[in-house]
Amino acid sequence: MNSRTENIVEEIQAKCNIVDVIGRHVKLKKTGSNYKGLCPFHNEKTPSFVVSEEKQIFTCFGCGAKGSVIKFVELINNFTFMEAVSNLAEEYNIDTGAGIFDNEKKRSIYYEVNKKAAVFFYRAFRGNMNPALSYMAGRGIDDATLKKFGVGYADAAWDSLYSYLKADGADEDVLTELGLISVGKGKHFDKFRGRVIFPIINTRSKIIGFGGRILGSGEPKYLNSQDSKIYHKKDNLYALNITRQDIAKEEQAILVEGYMDVISLYRHGVKNVTASLGTALTDGQAGILKRYTNNVVIAYDSDAAGRAAALRGMDILRRAGCSVKVLRVKNAKDPDEFVKAYGKESFLKLVSEAVPMIDFKLMVERESVDMDTTEGRLKFLKSAASVIRSLSPVEAEVYIKKTADETGISEGAIRGEVQGGSLAVKRDTIAIRRNPVRSGETQADSDMPEMVEKYFIRLILIDASYLKRTREYEEAFTSPAAYRIYSNMKLLYEEDKEIDYRKLADTLDEYDKKALKDIVENIKIADKEESVFAECARTVTLSALAAREDEVLRMLTLTDEDENRDKAEQLSRELLVIQKKKKEVKGW
Ligand code: CTP
Ligand code: MN
Repeated sequence: MNSRTENIVEEIQAKCNIVDVIGRHVKLKKTGSNYKGLCPFHNEKTPSFVVSEEKQIFTCFGCGAKGSVIKFVELINNFTFMEAVSNLAEEYNIDTGAGIFDNEKKRSIYYEVNKKAAVFFYRAFRGNMNPALSYMAGRGIDDATLKKFGVGYADAAWDSLYSYLKADGADEDVLTELGLISVGKGKHFDKFRGRVIFPIINTRSKIIGFGGRILGSGEPKYLNSQDSKIYHKKDNLYALNITRQDIAKEEQAILVEGYMDVISLYRHGVKNVTASLGTALTDGQAGILKRYTNNVVIAYDSDAAGRAAALRGMDILRRAGCSVKVLRVKNAKDPDEFVKAYGKESFLKLVSEAVPMIDFKLMVERESVDMDTTEGRLKFLKSAASVIRSLSPVEAEVYIKKTADETGISEGAIRGEVQGGSLAVKRDTIAIRRNPVRSGETQADSDMPEMVEKYFIRLILIDASYLKRTREYEEAFTSPAAYRIYSNMKLLYEEDKEIDYRKLADTLDEYDKKALKDIVENIKIADKEESVFAECARTVTLSALAAREDEVLRMLTLTDEDENRDKAEQLSRELLVIQKKKKEVKGW
């Protein structure tokens, strides 16, 4: 902060009372020397939001929000620090001079013009009877909602807006840059004519652009403001100025395609909505949404374009750190049509039935093939595998099982495909393949280390140099206790270059400690270290080969030799290699 800003901040703090500023947004009640109210930053029923007049600060004991009056203005309006300062300074007549506030000032000229245009459209809509009014009424939107979204009307004349703004002293270049007018043959005419107008307003309540829908049918159906100094399509989501609080409260955002989807859902009481406005979702938009919630339900149109946009959007949202679900609109082309026909409860039911993005991806793959033919099933197997391959081992395991259940394709076949048809026995692939709970065993049994694991652990305790050699067979550690003991041994060794039994025990909880004690007391190796290690290595290698053999066999069963000769041949060859290798290992 430079000294000029510091002075302004000091002046703000001297001139304005935090209780007055907050009192406009929160109903405050005096309790002792403080004021109390319901926190505007999280959902609560009993007040934990405290304002101190003496200290000029606010604190919420529920969500932890706290700070000065400037901080409050920042949070409540979603302003930057500079914007909050500028806003308060303006309100309290504090001169901010030139300099750092220049940019905001320059932009404010554009905001002002857009605001005047919005008011002009709004008045035209509200004034005399006009076709936009009946058009919107016909689409089932009530008056309160129309007002809430500031819906307006651009009449059919060539230059109504231009004449109005021109008379008001607006700069033609600004009008052109904002996309409100265009110039041709020395004449100025309005861009938006004979359309319903949807103002696009950012979360700081500035009007940054417009969308205009034709009344009835005609092309283009929608006209939108182009990008300008104040409108960047890729960094804006429609209606967040109205719905962001609902999104935060519901801890969920419903992302739709169009203006009318938002307005119609809102009108029916589904308020946690926003729209990407038909364009492909961007990283910027995903980042903005993530400020309000991590949970996004994509509710795009039910056509192929909507489905494709959903597939692209979900990866972007996922990358931004959102948890994504996809809603499928049934018996209607989009959420607007659906909620209008079936009502709020039915739409909420669709929301509750929305599927996680991986399920959606698998579903799309499944629907794109004919699962009654081998060819279709193989094609599905390939695409499903590439979806599953992107998951963590634990997630992958869940989806392998689920896909097997739903399609009747064996788990082995799916696993094999996920791991890519090569013989190379990769460590992580075996970790996925091995199922720690074997049939007939309880979970508790399988938690306890098995023989090979016990031998490895015992060997490493006797001689830490076995640690290095065991790495190659890490997949042997399938029971959680053994895996934790082994991991901690690795860490200890990295630190101390030795593994002290006492120290190791100290790193473990009671359950694992018991497992370790059991190993040390009951596994006797005495002078046979090398042969025990060789036997363990052999066992692990053999079981990996056997598991792969199993998969290849199952895949062969699934592959129709007439239809996919290459695949069948490749599998048969791999089978031979595995069987040969097995013989070799048995002879070790
Ligand atoms: N869109 C656009 N230009 C078009 C068509 C669509 O900018 N020519 C954008 C608009 O933001 C629109 C969204 O894409 O809201 C979704 O398009 P579409 O599904 O075609 O429009 P709907 O919202 O269903 O329109 P309506 O219900 O008014 O027919
Ligand atoms: Mn639509």
